[in-house]
Amino acid sequence: MTTLAPVGATPQPGSTTKKSFGKTPDGQPVDLYVLTNKNGAEASITNYGGALVTLKMPDRNGKLADIVLGYDNADGYVADKSYFGALVGRYGNRIGHAQFVLDGKTYTLAKNNGDNSLHGGVKGFNKGLWAAKTLSAKDGQSLELSYRSKDGEEGFPGNLKVTVIYTLTDANALKIEYTATTDKKTVVNLTNHAYFNLAGQGSGDILGHLLMIDADQFTPVDAGLIPTGELRDVTGTPFDFHKPTAIGARIDQDDEQLKLGGGYDHNFVLRRGAYAEESPAARVVEPTSGRVMEVWTTEPGIQFYTGNFLDGKTIGKGGASYPKRNAFCLETQHFPDSPNQPKFPPVTLNHGERYHTVTTYKFSVEK
Ligand code: BGC
Repeated sequence: MTTLAPVGATPQPGSTTKKSFGKTPDGQPVDLYVLTNKNGAEASITNYGGALVTLKMPDRNGKLADIVLGYDNADGYVADKSYFGALVGRYGNRIGHAQFVLDGKTYTLAKNNGDNSLHGGVKGFNKGLWAAKTLSAKDGQSLELSYRSKDGEEGFPGNLKVTVIYTLTDANALKIEYTATTDKKTVVNLTNHAYFNLAGQGSGDILGHLLMIDADQFTPVDAGLIPTGELRDVTGTPFDFHKPTAIGARIDQDDEQLKLGGGYDHNFVLRRGAYAEESPAARVVEPTSGRVMEVWTTEPGIQFYTGNFLDGKTIGKGGASYPKRNAFCLETQHFPDSPNQPKFPPVTLNHGERYHTVTTYKFSVEK
């Protein structure tokens, strides 16, 4: 049973603690929920943007480190342009030319990334205040976050009710369950934008992490990082992660797609497709700490992004700075620009339907 400890209390194993995290620009209080599992692993989540603020996991000697990038208070998340740990919606990733057509009607979005729409627009779900509720979970600690996105918000049709449940399990997994319903046909693509560094946030680059992705194909992009529509075989390219390969091994190769992304910033087509049970999508090993992260999801795609746009100017948690490639993201999702790509798995949600996806990040160690 989850108990909510008073503000300021020290987190106890198997508990959830609520703390003040600052205020929004218009003065609304922002909270931080600290979920601690029976092993002392910790996930803290703010109701501002639903962001995962800290994730503390043990290394091979049992020593905890915080393995996600973030900020010490709400102000950091209000100013953030990198989507550190945030819940991203209504449409995670890009929509080409910031428009799409549904049932013959054109919907126009803000161009907040060159000519395109990125991560839900100017004020995406990452800039909203979510309603938070602790839930009792039999195998860990859960936090339920809810957000109501109004018909027309950021140009998207339909009143959308969104619920996200974060669970930190006693087996050191972070499970994220997304549900949404609409009163009018719309498009939805929800994800979490955690930036991981399994050696510890602020500890240097992630080029030595070993990555495996269960994908035979990826979606090549144009100069605006919009998919061309092709599903390209990864064989013989720097995008082949069938075998564990250092992220940095090929990142600076003379490859057209790597040049367009400034490194990896691409969607991979997961081998088993969408709507199945949650299944393994990616596995990352950090050799010095021994930390291992597996990503399991029901989603058909995963955006692998190597923090190419990080510039070291942002001051993060504990005064850490985050230079280029100091973290990587594995954003589970439907493919970018799907509303304009008839051959990609569909992202439309109708009135009466229930959007439901699950992604779990499972942590362990290798000796
Ligand atoms: C995108 C990157 C972008 C980053 C932060 C990623 O999902 O693919 O191009 O810079 O998010 O917005």
